[in-house]
Amino acid sequence: MKIGVIGLGYVGLVTAACLANNGHQVIGADIDRSKIERLHRGQAPIYEEGLDELLAQARAQGTIEYMTDIAQAIKESTILFVAVGTPSLPDGSANLDYVWDICEQIATYGQDGQLIILKSTVPAGTTDAFAERLIQNNHTRFLDVIHNPEFLRQGQAVHDFLHPDRIVIGYENESVIPMINKLYHFSEAPIQFCRRTSAELIKYAANSFLAMKISYINMFSQLCEAFGADISDIAKGIGTDPRISPHFLQAGVGYGGSCFPKDIQALIQLAKAHGHTLPLLEATQQINRRQMTHFTEKLEQRLGTLDRKRIALLGLSFKPHTDDIREAPALRFCEICMAKGANILAYDPLVRAFPYAHVKLVSDPYACMEGANALVILTDWPEFRTLNWQRVCALLREPLLFDGRNLFSTQEIKFLSQSHPLEYHSIGR
Ligand code: UGA
Repeated sequence: MKIGVIGLGYVGLVTAACLANNGHQVIGADIDRSKIERLHRGQAPIYEEGLDELLAQARAQGTIEYMTDIAQAIKESTILFVAVGTPSLPDGSANLDYVWDICEQIATYGQDGQLIILKSTVPAGTTDAFAERLIQNNHTRFLDVIHNPEFLRQGQAVHDFLHPDRIVIGYENESVIPMINKLYHFSEAPIQFCRRTSAELIKYAANSFLAMKISYINMFSQLCEAFGADISDIAKGIGTDPRISPHFLQAGVGYGGSCFPKDIQALIQLAKAHGHTLPLLEATQQINRRQMTHFTEKLEQRLGTLDRKRIALLGLSFKPHTDDIREAPALRFCEICMAKGANILAYDPLVRAFPYAHVKLVSDPYACMEGANALVILTDWPEFRTLNWQRVCALLREPLLFDGRNLFSTQEIKFLSQSHPLEYHSIGR
């Protein structure tokens, strides 16, 4: 029995690699020829901890093959994952062109008894519509089309796939249950079987709840600044209540990435199209945006002006352990500062390309600091905690540190500033 995975982005490739190392025979298919060529050469097209090793093992065991021929992958697979992208349209709603294209191909090349698993994040109703389209196109003998949302985090994708908290399956046909149990035999997580539309909404509800939690603590960070309180104390004081939990209460310059911003906007648009408003999520977005505006205002105020100021920037990706800069707070930071005339030199441990030509990338964290008016941290890479502070202070024109991720506790800063002339600014403290 072969398992096809169509679309080898983050979710698809991790799914393929993990299944191929857990007793399954996998076909990875993608129309991107260069991606498939790289995979044939044994190189992963994305950086993800543990992924290279898993792909190499699967290659050595002969449990994974790659192809650009989507029709062939559909013909050969008993279980077919659809993990193609659902990018945003100009209004923020999800563009389902890739999903419908695969649907058409399955209608043509699909096999009898085939189980189709939609893994892409899709608006509620899409999986039902997918099954209907197959039937309308005279393909009726598939087993089921199910929605199986993915909850993995970039940077921990392999771990999250192999050790999920839960597996959600939105289905129609009862007979998929034993097949799903077999497919995910390696996981001890509970499997929640539910309606297709519920599964679709669970994915959006999870992401928007997490983003809302971040905006909630960020909203409080501004109050803390007004009252001289410490946002870390607030997070600790509420996070110890198990009903709240300490996770996703780290105040900072806001969330980014390819999921939260896009999914929230898509959900708002979906609700709007059905006559609903989602004020909590609109506020979540607004606070997230305001967080960066406020941060740059503080920087500007401290420096008097940003015009012709030199900023040393550490961290470009939307979070550590990834080279992904999609919707990264660093993008907006650079836009705001450049519009005000600042010059930016930046270092990131993984990011090698940045869309703004005026932001010069350097290959060593200290190389961006010489003569800079301020050092700004926007990603919580652990290595930024252990800089040689003596060297940092010697290089900077003014020893100003603007920490957009609250990398240091108040105690640590007290200790640091005893031995170094650092002026420290952070969020909500
Ligand atoms: C997110 C979800 O966490 C995953 O469960 C989901 O599967 C994924 O989206 C997706 O839909 O594919 P991810 O985008 O990889 O995962 O990143 P997160 O670790 O959730 O972080 C998102 C952003 O929130 C980052 O910019 C991070 O710096 C920020 N963040 C996170 C905070 O500002 N504060 C926190 O306390 C936590």
